[in-house]
Amino acid sequence: MSSVSCCASRASFSRLEDFESLAEKRLPSDVWEYYSFPSDGFTLQENKRAFQRYRLLPRVLRDVSTVDTAATVLGSRLDMPVAISPTAHHSLAHPDGEKATAKGAASANTAFVVSSLANYSMEDIAQAAPQGVRGFHLIPQKDPGRTTELLRRAEGAGYTAIWLTVDHHGRPASLMESAEGVRLPNLSFGDAPMEFRSSEFNAYMRDNLKKPVTWDDVVWLRKNTQLKIVLKGILSAEDAKEAVKVGVDGICVSNHGGRQLDGVPATIDALPDIIRAVDGKADVYVDGGVRSGTDVLKALALGARCVFVGRPVLWGLACNGAEGVQQVLQLLKEQLKLAMAQAGCSRVSDIKPSLIVHESYYLHGCHCPGS
Ligand code: FNR
Repeated sequence: MSSVSCCASRASFSRLEDFESLAEKRLPSDVWEYYSFPSDGFTLQENKRAFQRYRLLPRVLRDVSTVDTAATVLGSRLDMPVAISPTAHHSLAHPDGEKATAKGAASANTAFVVSSLANYSMEDIAQAAPQGVRGFHLIPQKDPGRTTELLRRAEGAGYTAIWLTVDHHGRPASLMESAEGVRLPNLSFGDAPMEFRSSEFNAYMRDNLKKPVTWDDVVWLRKNTQLKIVLKGILSAEDAKEAVKVGVDGICVSNHGGRQLDGVPATIDALPDIIRAVDGKADVYVDGGVRSGTDVLKALALGARCVFVGRPVLWGLACNGAEGVQQVLQLLKEQLKLAMAQAGCSRVSDIKPSLIVHESYYLHGCHCPGS
């Protein structure tokens, strides 16, 4: 079994849930609840359960004496097809916040998508790990001049992609005392550094953010930046086709980790229809509920080019800062490597739809959605 040693606890961690348990012990309860929200959500649980409904059908007698997990994502070569989704407020997990996450991601040679709600500026995060591959999650502003300013900052700081999250409708996750006063420098313009104080923050979000954000904004974005564009939060094949039509480079099948509309399908279940709809005209990624190397293998077999993780990285950060982030990623890589070898795949390109079968095939004789 793969494992990494978590220096902070002097323990050998063989499951992402080991990081989860330690993070829960370490974090103040309001931060833990914010990261875990909504603990009773159907979709949150379904994201994880759905992976268990797919079975792997390994191939044998292949030479897997070496297994290479390297992948190319949006033109960048990564050591593994696993990267970091944007999540807010990393300084609640560790004082070095997103700077530590960027270092952990760069040490694992994978990509990190920085949230607009990061507690360090996008420039400071880039400087903490200049060799890292980074995307920036953009929140469009009412004033297009301010949105352009954010784009120019991301371009200047070496970000390679703009991620537009399209499934955020302001469902509030309660975040209390611990967040009071934390900085939000990527929502600041001029010399007014934005700090998180619930009432001011809510007023800022109400008065300054562009609402509604529509397909016209994606078209605007396409015209106003040379960076790659990824739409995050697509669940329907129709929206995926529309995204291809307006010229995005990537689509991330996501339900915000179950934090927005409850009752939507698990992302792994939504993935096959989207792969079919996109038909190779853009990269397709997936996040939500990925907790092991076999989950990664299943998502790749269904056609995802890369898998992203949100909460597990926050757990690693809370347990052991930059090293903890690297350990979480390393564990996923080791688990993926082992699963690939056991499935007869020596390279990521060997991972094919024929490797995966939905349980309904065995229970009811149905066809696999990936086939
Ligand atoms: C998020 N997510 C998120 N997404 C986004 O586009 N911008 C953001 O600022 C945030 N912030 C955020 C905070 C926290 C605490 C969580 C847990 C999540 C959603 C995130 O990008 C991703 O879609 C999910 O976290 C993926 O699910 P898992 O891996 O956490 O199960």
